[in-house]
Amino acid sequence: MSSSLTAVEQGRETGQKTVPGPILLLGAPGVGKGTQAKELVNLWGIPQISTGDLLRANVAQGTQLGRVAKEIMGRGELVPDSLVDEMVALRLQAKDTANGYILDGFPRTLGQAGWLDGRLAAQAQTQGGGLPVIAVSIHVDYNQLLRRITGRRNCPVCQTIYNVNGKPPKRDGFCDVEGAALVQRADDTEEVFKERMRAYVALTAPVVEHYRALGRFAEVDGDRPIGAIATGIVAAVERLRK
Ligand code: AP5
Ligand code: MG
Repeated sequence: MSSSLTAVEQGRETGQKTVPGPILLLGAPGVGKGTQAKELVNLWGIPQISTGDLLRANVAQGTQLGRVAKEIMGRGELVPDSLVDEMVALRLQAKDTANGYILDGFPRTLGQAGWLDGRLAAQAQTQGGGLPVIAVSIHVDYNQLLRRITGRRNCPVCQTIYNVNGKPPKRDGFCDVEGAALVQRADDTEEVFKERMRAYVALTAPVVEHYRALGRFAEVDGDRPIGAIATGIVAAVERLRK
C-alpha cells in the first residue's frame, strides 16, 4: 500500500474497521466540522448528527421548533438547550447510532455537555459499557474563518459543502453530484458570523475546556488540506480508543 495515502484512504483500501463510538466535533463557525464529519462518515459508516443541519431542516419544514429556531439562528445566537437536547435525544434513538456517531456542533454549552455526559453515563449503567466520548476540537484563525463562511455554498439536495474561494464546484453555482443550484446559508454573512463567534467564545469555548480536562480529547489544526486534517482526526481517535 502506498505510504502517500491518507489514513482515511488507507482505511478504505484495507477495509479496516475501527469502532469509533461517539465522537464530538467542536470548533468555531467555519472550522470545517461539517466537511470533516462527511470524511469520517465515508470511512466509518456511522452517521453525522449536525444540530445545525437538523435545525435548518426544522426551519425548512416549518415545524414548531423550526419557527422558534429561525429567528435565533438568523441572529447568530444559540437555540435554548432544552430544545436542542430534546432534538438530539430523538435522533440518538435511531438504530444507526449503535456503533457510534459524529456529533457536529453539539454540545455547544456547558448545559448541553452536562446533559450529554449524564445521558451517556446512564446508558453505560443500564446497558453495560458503551464507549466513552472522544472530543476533537478543530482550530482555524479568525480571518480564515470569515473567508470560509462568506465563500461557502451548499447543495440543498445532497448537502455537499463547497467554497467559492477554495473548493469551487466544477460548474459555477451548481452541485457536482446533483446538478442542483447551490445556496448560501442565511447566517453566512459577516455581520451574523461576528455574533456566532461571540456566542462561540462565551458559551462553547468552555465546553472545549470541559472535554480537554476529561482527557479523551484531541486538538487539530484546521488550516490544512481537508484530507490531512481527516488523517489527523483518525489517528487521534485510534490513539484515544486504545
Ligand atoms: P451550525 O450549522 O453548526 O454552524 P456553525 O457552528 O457556525 O458551523 P458551520 O456549519 O458554519 O461551519 P463548519 O465548522 O461545519 O464548517 P464547514 O465544514 O461547513 O449552526 C448554525 C446555527 O444553528 C447556530 O448559530 C445556532 O443558532 C444553531 N445551533 C446549532 N447547533 C446548536 C446547538 N448545539 N445549540 C444551540 N444552537 C445550535 O466549512 C466551512 C467552509 O470552509 C466551507 O465552504 C468548506 O468548503 C470550507 N472548508 C472546510 N474545510 C476546509 C479546509 N481544510 N480548507 C479550506 N476550506 C475548507
Ligand atoms: Mg456545519
